[in-house]
Amino acid sequence: MSDKLTPMFQQWRAAKEQHPEAILLFRMGDFYELFGEDAVVASRELELTLTARASSKDNPIPMCGMPHHAVQRYVAQLIERGYKVALCDQMEDPKKAKGLVKREVTRVLSAGTLLEDEMLEPGANNFLCALTAQERTYGLAVADVSTGQFFVTELAANGGVEPVVEELARLQPAECLLSAALLERDGLRPALQRSVSAPLTEFHLDPLSLHSPTERLTRHFGTTSLRGFGCEEMPAAIEAAATVLDYLQQHQVAAAQHMRSLTVYSTEAFMLLDSASRTNLELVRSLRDGGTYGTLLWLLDRTCTSMGARLLRQWLLQPLVDVTPIRRRLEAVGELHQSRLRREELQEKLGQVRDLQRLVGKAATGTANARDLVALRSSLGQLPGVAELLTGERCEALASCRDRTDACPELHDLLCRALSDEPPVGVREGGLIRDGYNPQLDQLRSSSGEGKTWIAELESTERDRTGIKSLKVGFNSVFGYYIEVTKPNLSQVPENYIRKQTLANGERFITPDLKEYEARVLGADEKAVELEYDLFCEVRDQVAREASRILTTAAALAELDVLTCFADLAARNRYVRPEVDDSAGILLKDGRHPVVEHTQEEAFVPNDVRLDDTENQLLIITGPNMAGKSTYLRQTALIVLMAQIGSFVPASEAKIGVVDRLFTRVGARDDLSTGQSTFMVEMHETANILHNATHRSLVILDEIGRGTSTFDGLSLAWAVSEYLHDLGAKTLFATHYHHLNELGEQLPRARNYRVEVKEKGDDIVFLRRIVPGGTDRSYGIQVARLAGLPHEVIERAKQVLWTLEEEKNIGQVAPAARQVKKVETPVQLKLFELTPHPVIALLGDLDVNQLTPIEALAKLSELKSRATETA
Ligand SMILES: Nc1ncnc2c1ncn2[C@@H]1O[C@H](COP(=O)(O)OP(=O)(O)OP(=O)(O)O)[C@@H](O)[C@H]1O
Ligand SMILES: [Mg+2]
Repeated sequence: MSDKLTPMFQQWRAAKEQHPEAILLFRMGDFYELFGEDAVVASRELELTLTARASSKDNPIPMCGMPHHAVQRYVAQLIERGYKVALCDQMEDPKKAKGLVKREVTRVLSAGTLLEDEMLEPGANNFLCALTAQERTYGLAVADVSTGQFFVTELAANGGVEPVVEELARLQPAECLLSAALLERDGLRPALQRSVSAPLTEFHLDPLSLHSPTERLTRHFGTTSLRGFGCEEMPAAIEAAATVLDYLQQHQVAAAQHMRSLTVYSTEAFMLLDSASRTNLELVRSLRDGGTYGTLLWLLDRTCTSMGARLLRQWLLQPLVDVTPIRRRLEAVGELHQSRLRREELQEKLGQVRDLQRLVGKAATGTANARDLVALRSSLGQLPGVAELLTGERCEALASCRDRTDACPELHDLLCRALSDEPPVGVREGGLIRDGYNPQLDQLRSSSGEGKTWIAELESTERDRTGIKSLKVGFNSVFGYYIEVTKPNLSQVPENYIRKQTLANGERFITPDLKEYEARVLGADEKAVELEYDLFCEVRDQVAREASRILTTAAALAELDVLTCFADLAARNRYVRPEVDDSAGILLKDGRHPVVEHTQEEAFVPNDVRLDDTENQLLIITGPNMAGKSTYLRQTALIVLMAQIGSFVPASEAKIGVVDRLFTRVGARDDLSTGQSTFMVEMHETANILHNATHRSLVILDEIGRGTSTFDGLSLAWAVSEYLHDLGAKTLFATHYHHLNELGEQLPRARNYRVEVKEKGDDIVFLRRIVPGGTDRSYGIQVARLAGLPHEVIERAKQVLWTLEEEKNIGQVAPAARQVKKVETPVQLKLFELTPHPVIALLGDLDVNQLTPIEALAKLSELKSRATETA
């Protein structure tokens, strides 16, 4: 077959065979063309018109195409839908090529290997992860090729797949590499599919390779060992890191070159924040629509750079557990908090620093254009000013930011000298390099300039010479410069004019002189453009060589940006510096919910929290619906979390003993995608808490046991509370099971609290204050009325409630409700006066004529006792 393929298709097929898993975009002139199955898939996904082209004699194959300038948009769409894309480019100028143009695959794009700004979110990392397993250890490598960040860690496998799935769920990678065998192990595939939305790419190191994973890494980094990175003794992590590099190499992602170092991290240095907590506390995604509005990140993100925004996100999802680094951050925030002027100047300067990490990434891969380098130039230009604002700074974290900020003066100088002020987007059209940078370029420019001046003057000299007033000098791309003379004047054309073209109303001529100048101009221009491109590439390579300096600076600036952002928030929102230590207590005075206080019109009512390991370890919080229980629970968790990322907190005073793990179990959620019912999800999350919480943990339970029958639910809630009490975990438990208030009396370290409300005439007033003591009413029906339930339903509910309460028969809810006699015409009642209602109903039902006086007296006494009992 192949001998029958046209030479072009043979070339196409060779490229396709190299990357059978990817959709191949084959550059032909101004288009990228797709053939065969690729064309069919792409035409469907991208709504491109499918045509056909003969791949050999009599054998048409499907084809579609896209203009080269639109390729990014199409590629982005394909990648978003989970495809990989290989770009096969023309490796030589078609005009100069002899025979078939040489073509090669220059890049394979997948979700985890993107570098293009248009396809990346500025404030989030684009992680490519690789997971490996060796005996009792999982190895995890995390790379962002767009920023050059590269991390590894190991996790013990004896805890099952849960920890590693959790870590991947936190990272939310764009793509995850793992071997087919591992994917099928220990239920990893379904667990990952549930928690990680990234495509899972089957990929592993070639076992027959001549180089061990360690060798691959040392070759990449140009080191003799991995000791400098601190991962020498971490074989699983090394294998994962080597897998990432191998994958990048196979995908021709030159950006791997700019991953110049490897950082080991331990999940133990961070608070364990499970995915349920991340979700429930709405840290980066809202529960309502998955957007950012209303999330903690949305509130906190007042960073000025994309680098800072990414770091803030990272910090937010990885609160610290060691007191020292937390205090270090807090101290820096305190310093910056003190001077508003300095803070604003820093923000102003940082605001002009562009994404250095991604700019360097593009320089390293040769995809940066002159505008990118100009952005780098102006960013570097801000750095001396930034450093100056930190002169003499003694605070450790700020001093370190200053010392790591390297303005790279020689590089800045080079960029200033070499690049023009406003270069074009394209790098092959000239206009990139400044006059005076390169003598040869200046020479070419001046000779082109002289030629152009001569040509520009030609029109007037020839008009004078020939006496033809309408003579014109023009240019077209077919035969260059020409002299145009209209028909009536043709007789005056001098002898040295050579006719080139006849038009309807005139003729076009050239002269030998004109052609000579033209050749000089065009030749010089062409050479200048080529030279400019070469000079530009040299500058870009110089940037790439300075990558590690710039990346160190970028990391320092990102940190400074986040610290400044925290200080700014503290000042704007009246936050205080929390006192953080290793004690077991959490003490908040006038704590507020950081987000709710901004998103609602109602003034926010602050509340205190006291948790310790002696008397206030388990707080049972009851109170009406809508009173503010859930808000109180969440604000406590959020304040602790904010303190442990180094931020000031919304309270008037805060003392926080660091928490090792934070668990939340909130509300009811179905997880139909994994075939789990509401109750099953609830119990699953609760089990996770009970297995993993320690005496240093903070547990937030918002109504557990709701998804089943009342007695079952109550019993479970009771047992769970006792368990956590004995475990010593600091727990806040909001519940409508008022029976749990008995725990507050029975257990030594449990306390009851309630949210206060006031009945005011027909209405209920939410005071939003948390006060000691239990409660016995939920006011659910009243709140339902506020929500607009139909009047009849509300009235009927009151009747049912009364009967149930009277019979104290909560175990048989359904039959009891049915036995309640229905009052056909609802009686008008004062709202919330539940007790008189059924008595009146009974009175209404009474047939006085049928009663003896004794019976009447007995009835009267019964009604009276009912009335007093429920008053
Ligand atoms: N301290 C407060 N100050 C002002 N408004 C508050 C406060 N706490 C809560 N709120 C407001 O009250 C609303 C209801 O609060 P929340 O959801 O915490 O009630 P709840 O007691 O958990 O109710 P339910 O029992 O129905 O779950 C919140 O959406 C918020 O707008
Ligand atoms: Mg609630």
